[in-house]
Amino acid sequence: MGRIVVTDRAGETHELELAVGENLMDQLRELDSGIEALCGGMCSCATCHVFIKPEWAAKLESAQDDELELLEETETYREDESRLSCQLKFSDELDGMTFTIAPEE
Ligand code: FES
Repeated sequence: MGRIVVTDRAGETHELELAVGENLMDQLRELDSGIEALCGGMCSCATCHVFIKPEWAAKLESAQDDELELLEETETYREDESRLSCQLKFSDELDGMTFTIAPEE
């Protein structure tokens, strides 16, 4: 288990406890001002878009082509920070990570 701190779309921060291997999308979609995750994690909607600072992003597995293509089509795409939370699994290395949910499009 470990913790992450996420800033939601209303600007509020939440400390979440995750198990190793848990998909980040699952708890973010339960927040009142969290993500929609309309496709349920199938990498086809981009409504689970988050911004992760480069120092933490470096600890994540690299994005696959389909994730990148979807992110690049979003209005708020940031080359160094954008990820789809449904494609991210929690690991011990991510304990303490802070990040922000991208604005709704
Ligand atoms: S939930 Fe649809 S792309 Fe992540």
